[in-house]
Amino acid sequence: MTLWERRLGEQPADALMAFTASVEFDRRLAVDDIAGSRAHVRGLHRAGVLTEQEVGILLAALNRVEDELADGSFRFLPSDEDIHTAIERRVSEIAGPAGGKLHTGRSRNDQVATAVRLFTKRQLTEVARGIVALQEILYERARTAPDAYLPGYTHMQRAQPVLLSHHLLAHAWALARDVDRILDTRKRLDVSPLGAGALAGSSLALDPEEVAEDLGFAARFENSLDAVSDRDFVAEALFDIALLGVHLSRLGEEIVLWSTEEFGFLELDDAYATGSSMLPQKKNPDVAELARGKAGRLIGHLSGFLATLKGLPFAYNRDLQEDKEPLFDAVDQAQLALSALAGLLATARFNIERMADAADTPAAAAIDLAEFLVEKGVPFREAHGVVAGLVRDSLERHLPLAELVQAHPDLGSDAVALLEPGVPVTRRTSPGAAGPEAVADQLRRFRERLFVDEERLGHE
Ligand code: ARG
Repeated sequence: MTLWERRLGEQPADALMAFTASVEFDRRLAVDDIAGSRAHVRGLHRAGVLTEQEVGILLAALNRVEDELADGSFRFLPSDEDIHTAIERRVSEIAGPAGGKLHTGRSRNDQVATAVRLFTKRQLTEVARGIVALQEILYERARTAPDAYLPGYTHMQRAQPVLLSHHLLAHAWALARDVDRILDTRKRLDVSPLGAGALAGSSLALDPEEVAEDLGFAARFENSLDAVSDRDFVAEALFDIALLGVHLSRLGEEIVLWSTEEFGFLELDDAYATGSSMLPQKKNPDVAELARGKAGRLIGHLSGFLATLKGLPFAYNRDLQEDKEPLFDAVDQAQLALSALAGLLATARFNIERMADAADTPAAAAIDLAEFLVEKGVPFREAHGVVAGLVRDSLERHLPLAELVQAHPDLGSDAVALLEPGVPVTRRTSPGAAGPEAVADQLRRFRERLFVDEERLGHE
């Protein structure tokens, strides 16, 4: 039995139900739908629509439905279009006549908007917690490898050595912005749509503000049309997760590169590597590749859903039902990726010697030689030319750079000392730079930031 069968003479066609029913996926909203119904029942009581006794009956029925859904004994019927219908139908079976009053002053339009907001609020919090857990690993790996350094790259060409901890923290800071964005989205979506009805509110003495408070929302809707048609918060959540996915894909790409024989900077733990069905020698970074690959899907969820929203007239349209699958999948994939990457990074071994070898080419100190000249008063453009000439000479004439530096009248042995392995990275001393002192400070600042974010997430 559909909720609207009395309006239409015929039973819905199978093809209609198959195409429009959402219960297969929106049953995931059951706990949120029930929370919404409980608050609505209490609101109906305050509005004088339900007696004390009816409230008791309905709340008990909702408890029982919740238990049935939790223990798997809930029986869905083919006519249950969506989870909201299914729950109301079952409440009526249990509660008898009082069940018929549950939907007073409410529409599935404000009901579903409420449930999706509650779901998104909770799930975004979980995703942010997953991000923080990954950040903890990045921080730990950074903190415990204070001396390791590797080449920093631009254009995928070796540019300047950087500390490994600096490099790892670069990923962690990007993730900190993801946490921030998610918390910001969470703040904006913290508005209750319940009481907007189908689109225009109600003639009954319902108080959306009290219901909002009951549900733990920070505020009630301001406009009933907006309340039932707004899915900005889903689009925002999808964006936050898509950008998180982009960040994780960068990390994934780097793990893929670093674990190649060509780089050899990283060795994956066996538990976080895969083998080949044919080639016995293979050890593959599938986790990192999927972290990279899933970003495509997450971006697709965002762009697909924005296309769904575009041009929808007010107020509710069934198109909005398309909010759920991308949202559910995005939060699931984000969480899976975060915990797999956290495990991978916690257990991988860094090959510090390989990194240092790659970083310790004499030309890695080119900028230090130029700045050595700058400190002696040579204009930078001129100094740049001098060092570029020496590097070129050394390559063309197959002479060690150190020899040419030693022989140069403005350089000499003090400058040669800059070419020693491990020296250039120690000279990156400005705030936020890649050298040891700056990174020690950065580690402290990052630790503080993590505490703050853990606090912000711990309050729910
Ligand atoms: N399953 C629907 C959705 O997710 C619920 C709202 C249906 N409302 C309606 N007027 N048909 O959007």
